[in-house]
Amino acid sequence: MCGIVGAVGINNPRDYAIEGLKMLEYRGYDSAGIGFLSDKINIFKDIGSPNHLDDILPSSFETELIIGHTRWATHGTPSKINSHPHLSCNRKIALVHNGVIDNANELRTFLLSQGYKFYSDTDTEVVVNLLEYFYLSSKDMHTSLTLLKDQLEGSYALAIINEDYPDSLFMLKKGSPLMIGKGKGFNLIASDASPMAKYTNEFIDLEDYDFGYISKKEIKIFDKNNNLVDRKPIVKDAESISHDLKGYPHYMLKEIEEIDEVVKRAISIYHEDNQYQFDSKLLKDLREADHVMFIGCGTSYHASLVGGRIFEICNNIPTTEYIASEWAFHPVIPGKKPFVILISQSGETADLIHCLKIIKEKNNVPTLLITNTPGSTLSRGVTYTVLLHAGVEVSVASTKAYAAQVALLALLSGALSKNEKMVVDLKDTIDVIDSIKNNLKQPIEQIAEEIKDHDNVFFLGRSFDYFLSLEASLKLKEISYIHSEAYPGGELKHGPIALISEGLPVIVFITDPTTASSMRSNIEEVKSRGAKVYVVATKSLSKKGDALIVDDYAHFLSGVAISSIAFYLAYFVSLKKGYNVDKPRNLAKSVTVE
Ligand code: AGP
Repeated sequence: MCGIVGAVGINNPRDYAIEGLKMLEYRGYDSAGIGFLSDKINIFKDIGSPNHLDDILPSSFETELIIGHTRWATHGTPSKINSHPHLSCNRKIALVHNGVIDNANELRTFLLSQGYKFYSDTDTEVVVNLLEYFYLSSKDMHTSLTLLKDQLEGSYALAIINEDYPDSLFMLKKGSPLMIGKGKGFNLIASDASPMAKYTNEFIDLEDYDFGYISKKEIKIFDKNNNLVDRKPIVKDAESISHDLKGYPHYMLKEIEEIDEVVKRAISIYHEDNQYQFDSKLLKDLREADHVMFIGCGTSYHASLVGGRIFEICNNIPTTEYIASEWAFHPVIPGKKPFVILISQSGETADLIHCLKIIKEKNNVPTLLITNTPGSTLSRGVTYTVLLHAGVEVSVASTKAYAAQVALLALLSGALSKNEKMVVDLKDTIDVIDSIKNNLKQPIEQIAEEIKDHDNVFFLGRSFDYFLSLEASLKLKEISYIHSEAYPGGELKHGPIALISEGLPVIVFITDPTTASSMRSNIEEVKSRGAKVYVVATKSLSKKGDALIVDDYAHFLSGVAISSIAFYLAYFVSLKKGYNVDKPRNLAKSVTVE
């Protein structure tokens, strides 16, 4: 994981680096640090998020060259010594790194045999010393980077300062994202566009094995064959990458409250002029498939469960849904003519990248990525990409992206069977989302107050409501650190009911007419064992005493219509417990290590 920034020739390097790293905190925040070149390389770093950088950096300094890093620890615990930037032994080269070097131990052993000393537990310190080793003999950075590239196994996005090149910031990329921001009289580098958006709207996405340097006036990129390449910048509009909180206290709240807009946008883009707007070749490939396999992680996996069930019900296509990290170790693609749908908000999730590699190596199977991130690593490897257009999602807990994923899968299903009713059903969810936003926040907050001091919470549902329960449970544990479990109502009696004890909060979703009465029986079973039950029901299925009642909608769209209830609940519990809602412990937004 980790986020990196770098700049050459920018007027306010201190602000750029600190503010930029704050925007990349979603990539990890175990420690943060900055390195810059004056007469020598200066490094300031410590554990904790980029917020502490203001305190540990000199209040002003002049430099042409700056690099910075926010870390999600992989090799070595979060500590000052393991923080980036890392310096080479002769202190003349410094670098920041996002990724994992798989052969770090081997390379360390080699460097130890050459007299190198190591002070941290990181793979990054191995990289900087190997670069120094090559540089000391070649006296040339281009040659050194080529040699380094040949030796490193694993993933890396590197931004590098060498004292002998006071005008150049070097870079090298494989597997981890790295982007150049093209300025006027300056140039920038970062893990994504957000830190650079204030300074430019022209960005170059580096490709794997690209290396080279940026100076004030030049951008030189060499590809894997060592050829100088001219990668054309793409222009991005500031709004689509903005991290502005727009008056909200937290990104999570802002992003929950954007769900209605996100759904409207998806409909307007993918059903423009009253016609479905998907690539006709994509639809053809999907129609010809005899099995659709979905892969995702976390929230995106939960969206795939919904999508798979919708495809089965509405399109009569058999589907299988896999957690990416599980499938990779048993990589069987079901069907004689399969199609694979990968779902990833970030498009950078390492487990999925691994799966895609396997799929491409073994089979000639068409693949579709549903993602929020144009130009992401995954989108470069798949046959088709469909964008969520949900706007940047900053909070580690995914909310609006989940609703957008489900909405898009529903639209895709509608397009496949030319089913116009799907659009009508989706449009109906917007009123439900709005009425939750306008009328139910206070009662949800009251439930949050009642459950916040419990150690365990259960979520129950059947079918689509079970899928939503899984997502509600993940969200609660992720940001409130309360242990929670989601079960299909019918599974309770097969074991989990043993856990029901006096006062245990059980949150039940009842929105599906076919499962409602079974769920009511399940409620009686847990109530009679002392559980405190909170029912979320649609009006036509509601009963006296239900905690939250919402207008009716097409029940297979729970993930769009009422996911905000689950999100608000987790949000309020986390807030009441005094936790950092947007940056839960131990997590990062983009999981770029397996
Ligand atoms: C959700 O709240 C999580 N933080 C996490 O489960 C996330 O959905 C998962 O890591 C997958 O990420 P992706 O969609 O970017 O691939």
